[in-house]
Amino acid sequence: MNFNTLLFEIENSIATITINRPDKLNALNAETINELSAAIDEVLSKEEIKSAIITGAGKAFVAGADISEFPTMDGAAGEALARVGAEKLFNKIEHCTKPFIAAVNGFALGGGCELAMACHFRVASEKAKFGQPEVNLGLIPGYGGTQRMTALIGKGKSMEMHMTAHIADAKEALEMGLVNHVTVPESLIEHCKNILGIINKKAPLALAGIIKCINASNTATGFETEIKVFGSLFDTADKNEGVGAFLEKRKADFKGK
Ligand code: COA
Repeated sequence: MNFNTLLFEIENSIATITINRPDKLNALNAETINELSAAIDEVLSKEEIKSAIITGAGKAFVAGADISEFPTMDGAAGEALARVGAEKLFNKIEHCTKPFIAAVNGFALGGGCELAMACHFRVASEKAKFGQPEVNLGLIPGYGGTQRMTALIGKGKSMEMHMTAHIADAKEALEMGLVNHVTVPESLIEHCKNILGIINKKAPLALAGIIKCINASNTATGFETEIKVFGSLFDTADKNEGVGAFLEKRKADFKGK
């Protein structure tokens, strides 16, 4: 698939999506959001792709929503921007049934931090920087930042990050639980691919179940969701394969059925 604002590569069942507007620090304009949405559809629809990495070209992961689109926008336009972005991109990644890792190579500010947080987990280069600096523009995050950051790092820290517009380096992000690992810049993508190499051998329907249940955690339906998903997996061929392989002392070969 060809994109104007993205690079899209597939290797060993892993799609690597690179946001490629380095001169604008990969700021999320409407075209980039539309293309990312289409790239997620591509990941979902292609059987040969088991999981995906999102990263950025140049010195930024994503430096935020494209501020150059803001001056003419009123309240209705702002609300629509946030709603459409959630539908097309941020909620779509979070609820994607295939695992997505954010490989945060540099600035992940505003919508960039929100994009990283919408992925299932994050690996950072030592050069990564994280923040929600919208308060400096007289705004707040609109792509789920107040919600996802609070879930990841807790209420007090999230309040402070949003109120001060503090830009956290990779070490701080690791300490806060915003990222799972920090690597040297040259190893970032390889590190993500190694983790996905492990994940890609697991049962795909169980992985989708994990995503669904963990996304439902801390909601009123979290425990019930887990009970239902647990039950539904007993009707899958992969459960017969996984349990059979354990009992027969061999490696399971999951088919995603
Ligand atoms: N939207 C639109 N354009 C952006 C952008 C954004 N969020 N972030 C950076 N850019 C553009 C700059 O306008 C500049 O374009 P130009 O060369 O045509 O003038 C280019 O990307 C390079 O950015 P620059 O500011 O020169 O790089 P820097 O290394 O000096 O600073 C940042 C890097 C990330 C600190 C700075 O770009 C910044 O603060 N960006 C905005 C972050 C933000 O507030 N994000 C939340 C948005 S809701």
